[in-house]
Amino acid sequence: MLEKRKLGREGLEVSALGLGTMMLANNEESVRTIQGALDLGVTMFDTADLYGEEYSLQRFGGNEKLVGRALKGRRDEAIIATKFGVTHSQGPKGDPAYIKKSVDASLYQLGIDYIDLYYQHRVDPNTPIEETVSTMADLVKEGKIRYIGLSEATADQIKRAHAVHPITAVETEYSLWSREVEDEILPLLNELGIGFVPYSPLGRGFLTGQIKKFEDLPADDYRRYYPRFQGDNFAKNLEVVTLIESMAAQKGCTAAQLGLAWLLAQGSQIVPIPGTKRLERIAENLGSLQVTLSAEDLAEIEHISPKGIAAGSRFPGANA
Ligand SMILES: NC(=O)c1ccc[n+]([C@@H]2O[C@H](COP(=O)([O-])OP(=O)(O)OC[C@H]3O[C@@H](n4cnc5c(N)ncnc54)[C@H](OP(=O)(O)O)[C@@H]3O)[C@@H](O)[C@H]2O)c1
Repeated sequence: MLEKRKLGREGLEVSALGLGTMMLANNEESVRTIQGALDLGVTMFDTADLYGEEYSLQRFGGNEKLVGRALKGRRDEAIIATKFGVTHSQGPKGDPAYIKKSVDASLYQLGIDYIDLYYQHRVDPNTPIEETVSTMADLVKEGKIRYIGLSEATADQIKRAHAVHPITAVETEYSLWSREVEDEILPLLNELGIGFVPYSPLGRGFLTGQIKKFEDLPADDYRRYYPRFQGDNFAKNLEVVTLIESMAAQKGCTAAQLGLAWLLAQGSQIVPIPGTKRLERIAENLGSLQVTLSAEDLAEIEHISPKGIAAGSRFPGANA
């Protein structure tokens, strides 16, 4: 049995690693990958109304459709996490009318009658977070969602939201090259008993060592526009990955496993959601649960990849 972890204090329990489905196309291979993940003991599946390639009214929903299709008949084995609030034309939205429309659309796309974990994808600067979370709390009462999450929220927003209704999980980027959450967010979540779900835990694939040159990224790959994958930044970041790879080899694991084991060691309420289209890589990533890191190992990783070492910002236009 795969290790389970609790997110928050409201009773949500999930496999210690989830699966991020963002980059999975809506096809049969992806259905097999998601079902295979479930067979391997993965119970949490992370999607969003934004992910996918098919428009439904003015919203995307192709990825939710895929997740719903793959989990059909096995709904009770899975924890389905989805998100609302990122729009293409109007920026982040979190007003009550938008949320009520969004949850019904997600339930429809997923083909289910409740969502386990419903995140606000980005905080709406024009709606007080109290109003957003109180609307989400109404959805809990109505039985449309079970638990509430926030993504990329600030410490102040998390505190204000949690005062309205318990927040079960916060999802934000965290990995060996994105450690900003260690300053304020992780200590606050520990204090409040909120779970943490690191997204892009493998640095969008870079930290696995499988991307050795810019041209390894397909011509239409979005990462070509991300600063860390460009020019000198790429070369500097690769130096760190090379060191991670050699430490992993010494420990008898892969770079991906080492990076995930390091994240899992940062706290018992941490549940990373690596994304992959390939079932064999899900099995590989789950192998990180067997990697034990000693105090010396953690110190070595700290030496190789200290906070702030990544060259380039997390995404185009970001400050860090
Ligand atoms: N809340 C948010 O704003 C937000 C933002 C971004 C992402 N997310 C969530 O986080 C999930 C994961 O993030 P992500 O997909 O951006 O990045 P990631 O998990 O850091 O990396 C995914 C990439 O790594 C590759 N990969 C995975 N396991 C591997 C392994 N063992 N060896 C070699 N390569 C491996 C995958 O390629 P293959 O598919 O070819 O294996 C894919 O290109 C997403 O699916 C999404 O659910 C949330």
